[in-house]
Amino acid sequence: MIGHGCTLPRLTTTLSGVSFASVDELEAALRGADYLPDRGLATALFLATAIEKPVLLEGEAGVGKTEAAKALARAQGARLIRLQCYEGLDVAHAVYEWNYTRQLLHIRAAQEGTVSEQELFGSDFLIRRPLLEAIEAEDAVVLLVDEIDRADEEFEAFLLEILSDFQITIPELGTVRARRRPAVVLTSNRTRELHDALKRRCLFHWIDHPSLEREVEIVKLKVPGVADRLALETAAFVRELRALDLEKPPGVAETIDWANALRVLGHDDLDADVVETTLGSLLKVREDLDAMRDGRLQELVAGALAAVRP
Ligand SMILES: Nc1ncnc2c1ncn2[C@@H]1O[C@H](COP(=O)(O)OP(=O)(O)O)[C@@H](O)[C@H]1O
Ligand SMILES: [Mg+2]
Repeated sequence: MIGHGCTLPRLTTTLSGVSFASVDELEAALRGADYLPDRGLATALFLATAIEKPVLLEGEAGVGKTEAAKALARAQGARLIRLQCYEGLDVAHAVYEWNYTRQLLHIRAAQEGTVSEQELFGSDFLIRRPLLEAIEAEDAVVLLVDEIDRADEEFEAFLLEILSDFQITIPELGTVRARRRPAVVLTSNRTRELHDALKRRCLFHWIDHPSLEREVEIVKLKVPGVADRLALETAAFVRELRALDLEKPPGVAETIDWANALRVLGHDDLDADVVETTLGSLLKVREDLDAMRDGRLQELVAGALAAVRP
């Protein structure tokens, strides 16, 4: 399957994902996959699939970066392969690793004569991690490299190679080239700046907090049974919070959780008392909760409601 330093033959694929003729088409497909993108994001994702370039999605926590990649996979009928990045992530966990236990057992069996000679560094002894899996895939795949900013800079440099050539070199086996390029989505919460070299290899889109209208729509989509009024008022209040200088402004994920909590508690609309008792769904940093003291919260609730109530 893998040749020594040679190019793998191009195989015709049997499982092809859906491709899109226009941004509108992709946008509709994402909506069909329960994701409501803004136009900029739909365009970036469309281009990523059309010109086979990785796309880097940056934005605050909870704005829908990870879900965008998942939704793209659903929309395309493609398989999602996810690499979650963390500090210390290395090749053995991201690309491949030799199965030493299996190799050892094989050596033993060979010594006892129960199995035939076999290459110890053959494909059978390889444990495939997400990046190799994505490069080798013959079906339609979306590769999600999630939270790349958490990985070390060395790993970022290594990833660069894969993203520019879509190939991986395994010293004992040779070079594995992608038969078909997976769609690649990288996400970053921007806890550190990524290298220019990586950014140059990627299309870029900054995901902002959604507009009020879109967030209301997202809440209605993700919280079945939520009252229209509650969806509108929760989204409006969260917007007020985001305008403040908070340490961790609430993301869409928080709006959804909060609206759901309020629905479960039987509320159809907001008032200051309700907000106060459920604020823990929205603000998860002590300093941010402290900033709501001295009538600030009442003021914010009044502001939000004035903006949306007729
Ligand atoms: N545009 C959107 N359409 C539908 N759901 C969304 C959208 N944006 C965010 N969400 C929802 O918000 C939550 C957080 O999104 P997630 O992708 O985990 O955020 P991030 O990766 O940016 O931290 C998820 O439940 C996701 O479904
Ligand atoms: Mg995420």
